[in-house]
Amino acid sequence: MKQINVGIVGYGVVGNGVAKILEEKKELLRKKSGVEINLKKVFTRNWNKQFAFPLKENQKANSLEELLNDEDIQIIVELTGGIDFPYRLFMDAIDKNKHIVTANKALLAEKGKDIFLKAEEKGIRIGFEAAVAGGIPIIRALREGLVANKIGKIYGILNGTTNYILTEMFKKGRDFKSVLKEAQELGYAEADPTLDINGTDAAHKIAILASLSFGGFVDFSGVYIEGIEDIDTLDISLGRELGYTLKLLAIAKSHNGEVEVRVHPTFLPSEHPLAKVDGVFNAVMVEGDSVGETMFYGKGAGSLPTASSVVSDIVDIAKSIALGVGREIEITSMNWEHKDLSITKADDFYTRYYLRFTVPDVTGILAKVAAVFAKYNISIAAVIQKEKVLSLTEKENDKVVPLVILTHTASENNIQKAIKEIEEQNITRRKTVIIRVEDEEQ
Ligand code: HSE
Repeated sequence: MKQINVGIVGYGVVGNGVAKILEEKKELLRKKSGVEINLKKVFTRNWNKQFAFPLKENQKANSLEELLNDEDIQIIVELTGGIDFPYRLFMDAIDKNKHIVTANKALLAEKGKDIFLKAEEKGIRIGFEAAVAGGIPIIRALREGLVANKIGKIYGILNGTTNYILTEMFKKGRDFKSVLKEAQELGYAEADPTLDINGTDAAHKIAILASLSFGGFVDFSGVYIEGIEDIDTLDISLGRELGYTLKLLAIAKSHNGEVEVRVHPTFLPSEHPLAKVDGVFNAVMVEGDSVGETMFYGKGAGSLPTASSVVSDIVDIAKSIALGVGREIEITSMNWEHKDLSITKADDFYTRYYLRFTVPDVTGILAKVAAVFAKYNISIAAVIQKEKVLSLTEKENDKVVPLVILTHTASENNIQKAIKEIEEQNITRRKTVIIRVEDEEQ
């Protein structure tokens, strides 16, 4: 039986999970794949600490070169995170004809074009199942299971940490900081958790899914990103009254030759399947022209769920090495259309909006807001005005109340112009809260 040797770079939460699966399930993997996978070396900067899965002494490497220069190692598993160090590692590994498996979505979303073009040129495979949605095999689903489909839209909950925080806060009333701390302890959050909270992590993942779905590279600077840091519980409860649940949604859809790629807090109808996805779970919905709507659900973060995806790539690459599958037919690249995708600018988004104005409770306010909406061709679907007076900030001296307007589908450009005009006319006292709404009207 063919033996394939693997080297891991980075021995954190996911690395320990990968080693555990490779060592403890060696026999299962051998039976299922027909290949013997051997974890030969692991490199991490500091071996002087406790590890969840301790390694044998002869598996511990003290330099990266020990792995890169080892001709028996055919697959390098990169689990370090960040961008600069792994980028150099990828380039060196490709030069040394080693295949790569990674969970690094930041690297692929921001430098994927360089990496995939070089890998393609050299006939190197890059496995990145674990980079998106942890344990859910969405990459393989797009590349293989759904290959017969033209994808129209792919969207979902792609960050376990923020979904965990939103769920705990709004189901159990816990405070943001303590839930975040717990998510870090459970190994869900990024080393820098601001990447989770501000939407960047979900944006990296949707950029990768958009590339695979629509066949071209995404310029990451074109992805629209908003996080959950400014979410006010008042909007969660007002949204609930309108029949909505708040989620950090990542959306990519194709229309008129362009692709819209965005991440932002989003109200979903409470009966929508994604509205019911709680905790660290992720879910992705894919609309294909042959299959219709499909949904993929599972744990989006954590040691073993993510390691499950890493190992699936190791096995897949090991099998093709063992079978000697011609490299020329490998679909390593995301750009099967051989182009850069043209990304829709935020001004050109069309969606429904939940807008919360903070207004003095005096005659004529609603008429003034409605007049501005009419001017910008924004159709109102529902209005809630609460009698309950909001607590005043130090600068405020008159009573203010929340006025919520739910619109029909409108252009982002018109919404922004209308809000600017309403704020300039002093109709509203505080910054307007804008939350996009995904529902069937679109
Ligand atoms: N920090 C990520 C999350 C881990 O919370 O989803 C998986 O990429």
